[in-house]
Amino acid sequence: MSELSVNHLLGIKYLNKDDINLIFETADHFKEVINRPIKKVPSLRDITIANLFFENSTRTRLSFELAEKRLSADVINFSAASSSVNKGETLVDTVNNILSMKVDMVVMRHPNPGAGIFLSKHIEANIINAGDGAHEHPTQALLDSYSIRERLGEVGGKKVVIVGDILHSRVALSNIFALKLQGAEVKVCGPKTLIPKYIEKLGVKFESDLRKALEWCDVANMLRVQNERMEISYFPSNREYTQQFGVNKKMLDRLNKEIVIMHPGPINRGVEITSDVADSNQAIILDQVQNGVAVRMAVIYLLASKIK
Ligand code: NCD
Repeated sequence: MSELSVNHLLGIKYLNKDDINLIFETADHFKEVINRPIKKVPSLRDITIANLFFENSTRTRLSFELAEKRLSADVINFSAASSSVNKGETLVDTVNNILSMKVDMVVMRHPNPGAGIFLSKHIEANIINAGDGAHEHPTQALLDSYSIRERLGEVGGKKVVIVGDILHSRVALSNIFALKLQGAEVKVCGPKTLIPKYIEKLGVKFESDLRKALEWCDVANMLRVQNERMEISYFPSNREYTQQFGVNKKMLDRLNKEIVIMHPGPINRGVEITSDVADSNQAIILDQVQNGVAVRMAVIYLLASKIK
């Protein structure tokens, strides 16, 4: 297969296994490119991409921008804080105004779940969802699986536990779809109040005891508690959260194998993960960030090749 089955990357839910394999093979090539002295390829010289960020971001925005520039695309950036959205303009009007300046592709982060899906019905450009509220964050899940494949050889058959705030996490949902599609076994672990009621319907098991989850898994993906998406308190205090669901080096050293530790960032050191774990060789957190550029280059390149 040499083409994606989709014209937009709105969520992992809309991809098939061949799409993921194609993205990874393409990312392998771009990873080699970005490690060369000249890190740029002329592939997208005639493409213009708008990065529309209606919600805060550091890593994801920089990673997309770097990916676009390494493909030689023209790039424009927009962030909601400094835009006319605050003056009452609708999302479709805002984006259509930007598109009238001849933009081919939109990378969008938005606080509302489904914002990208909505937009894809109203505009011509290809859309990449860079995180829509608590819904999906497809490029994060792709770079996570790519990083597992790099460290452990493959994703199929691996046991992955996702720990923390599963309820409000777009990283968790996209990872669940991606891992299941590739044949990994997935468990979630965290305070019961932060586990969605429908979780078993996704083919995922719940484990309340972090120690048991760590004994079971090959990979633990530690998530941040999404305080900005909570109006009420879901657990008594940070201290109690850390006691039950934080990972530290002692716990890892007690296991009879070396598991891989992941985190999408931003890390809350001392809450979900201690510094000695985050900075250890078991953690592939910075590999994830590095792979993010190659994986995003692959997604952008493959979607751009579908533009007629
Ligand atoms: C994640 C996000 O924004 O959903 N971060 C990221 O994209 N690297 C996770 C988070 O904010 O906790």
